[in-house]
Formats: sequence, C-alpha cells, structure tokens
Amino acid sequence: MLSPSSAIGVFDSGLGGLTVLKSLNARLPQEDFIYLGDIARLPYGTKSPEVVTKYSLKCAETLLKQNIKALVVACNTASAVALPNLKKTLSLPILGVIEPGVRSALAEGQDQTVLVMATTGTVKSNAYPTGFQNQGFKGKVLQLACPLLVPLAEEGWFETPITEQVLNSYLAKVPIDLIDTYLLGCTHYPLLLQSLRNCVGTQKAIVHGGDQLALELQEELTKRNLLSNKKKGSLTFLSTDQISAELPILQKLFPQPITFSVIDF
Ligand code: DGL
Repeated sequence: MLSPSSAIGVFDSGLGGLTVLKSLNARLPQEDFIYLGDIARLPYGTKSPEVVTKYSLKCAETLLKQNIKALVVACNTASAVALPNLKKTLSLPILGVIEPGVRSALAEGQDQTVLVMATTGTVKSNAYPTGFQNQGFKGKVLQLACPLLVPLAEEGWFETPITEQVLNSYLAKVPIDLIDTYLLGCTHYPLLLQSLRNCVGTQKAIVHGGDQLALELQEELTKRNLLSNKKKGSLTFLSTDQISAELPILQKLFPQPITFSVIDF
C-alpha cells in the first residue's frame, strides 16, 4: 500500500540526474527524495538496451526496498530503453524523462524542427522520435549523439572553449540553420547550457524535460492522493561507488555539502 509519507525514488546512471532532482525538489519541496546514482556501472549511454534494462531493474528494486511511493527514472538512456519493462514489472507510479522532454519541446511549437541531443543509446532507441510521433507532432525531429559531452560535464568544463569546440564539431553534422529547438535528451547536458547557447545564439529555444517532469509528478501524486503533508522534505543520496564531495557537478548543483552513502547490489 503506497503512503503519502513515503519518499520518491529517483535513479540515474550517475550524477547527471541531479539536474532532474533539482527540478523535482524545487516544485515539490515538501517531498522526501531518495536519489540513487549507479556510479559503479556508469555510463549507460554506450551500453546495450538489455544491459541498461538489467541495471535499471536493479536500481528500481534497490529503491523499492526503501518503501518508495513513486519512481522517477531520471536517466534518459534508461527511460528510453527500460521504461516499458519497469512499468510492466512494478506496481507503483513510474515516470521517465522522455515524454516530459517531448512535451517541453512541443510547447515551443507544433510544426518546427527539433534537434534531440542525447547519448548513443538514446539515439539508437528512437524513443524521442517515437515520443514526438505519439503526440501527433507535425514538424521534423533530428537526432544527434554527443557522447563526449558527458565526460566534459563530469570534468566540470561547463563553459570552456573546448566544450564549445566539441559542441560545434557535433553541430556541424546537422543543418543548424533549420533547427528551431534544441532538446537536451541527456541528464548532463543542462550543465552545458551556456556553452550550447554560445554556439547556437540567443534566438533558438533550448529545452529539457526536468521542470515538465516535476509538474507531471505533482499531478500524478495529486491524482492518487499521495502528496506529502510535511512542511519540508528531505534529500537522501545513495550511490554504488564512493563519490567525492569535491566533484564539480555536486558543487554546481548542490552547493550545500551532501553525502552519498554507498550501497551495493
Ligand atoms: N544519465 C545518462 C542519460 O541521461 C547519461 C550518462 C550515461 O551515459 O550514463 O542518458
């Protein structure tokens, strides 16, 4: 039996999903969140759908042991390949990041050209183009795998000439003059927002699904009478390997020092 006082489980392959947790915590500050970063098995973006699904099920099972009332798959790659399997296997509200990402882009227009930037695994899955199709999108969806962006974000090179050079090399593969909206289909990419903005200029829309996902989670919890009655919720951080508090991603997203407890599965 799901209880309003239980926490919401959030998992990602690593720390990039903290960009999603930020959005969730901002909209639902009264909720307890348990974040699990599967650092030991990162990256998911280069692995097969079978392996990502296996790891995702493990992450979900680990969070279920904490008696969670809802599960957020913050990782785009895991959402792209493992969400149907998770939904089939588990009986609690489960939200991924693909559909909210699609809806964030659709808010920019129904008949435009969208470039989805994502990991190789997400691009290969075609989850985003399928998501747009399912929403009756009339425009055009292009995809671009940008595998080098994850390590750049991990290194904390959020706004550097090298990051812009890498972005420009990727963007040279697509007709950028035709693109209206850039959809950040990977948890790490919002950290590189300013670099991307420097590359594409101020006129183009750059979106990601975090805030929309937070809104949809709030709606889902409201519908099921599962919203917390607390004044202020808590944040708990778990990971499958040790994490240094000095990491640039942590310092950028959670300036107040946070501690990860290592768990194994
Ligand atoms: N979290 C992954 C995603 O959003 C990026 C990092 C990885 O490849 O594991 O797709």
